[in-house]
Amino acid sequence: MAKKIIIGNWKMNPVSSKDAEKLFISIVKFLNRKTRTEVVICPPFLYLENLKSSSRTKKISLGAQDAFWAEIGAFTGEVSPDMLYNFSARYVILGHSERRTLGETNETVNKKIKAALSAGLIPVLCVGESVRDESHDYFDLVKTQLGECLSGVKKTSVAKIIIAYEPVWAISSTINRKDATSADCLEMIIFIRKILSDKFGSESKKMRIIYGGSANEKDAEDFLRNGGVDGLLVGRASLDAKKFIEIVKICEALNK
Ligand code: PGA
Repeated sequence: MAKKIIIGNWKMNPVSSKDAEKLFISIVKFLNRKTRTEVVICPPFLYLENLKSSSRTKKISLGAQDAFWAEIGAFTGEVSPDMLYNFSARYVILGHSERRTLGETNETVNKKIKAALSAGLIPVLCVGESVRDESHDYFDLVKTQLGECLSGVKKTSVAKIIIAYEPVWAISSTINRKDATSADCLEMIIFIRKILSDKFGSESKKMRIIYGGSANEKDAEDFLRNGGVDGLLVGRASLDAKKFIEIVKICEALNK
């Protein structure tokens, strides 16, 4: 069985490289060398270089929060998956709802996933609905996101992809957000597993599916135990070393 994974998405935080290093070191310090949980931090691009040396302990991996689809060339403001790989990133979050709000589409996410895979990065594909309507249209929306974002991805590559189910209505940055329950999560994870199995057959069983949306040290156990997931994508709580470490410890305890 694939290892459970806890990914910290720092988003556009903290404001200085020094603060980023401090936070990173305080997380690394408390991680057990023999931890069976995979731990990943996705800081802003600019901090990757600096955090590279502190991540050498192998207790923690680095990831990015986006990547472009081309390898090199005239793409002002973009960063390629190969550049990220050379900067020690091994994971990349793609299709996050905060990026979709800025214009990211399933089509661009699809190109980015393929480029990330060829560069050797593990894509963390975010899917999730903005609202849960009574007619259950949100299932169709997630199905479309998965279908279009994973279109043309080879069966032999799917095991490397991580799917993050992030209901936008539960994410901490959403105004008037609501808590998602582990039952809300489980229902969608079962649905996602079915879509992936129809698309990729038994290979899909190797794909990890994680949950994100205000996951914290208080509800992590419930999501990990009852939500049907292989890990968590943690935003706000990953900016607090104590809370983030607590989440990793909870995951470890469940792994035993
Ligand atoms: P949150 O963020 O934990 O702050 O809700 C999760 C995410 O957006 O990836």
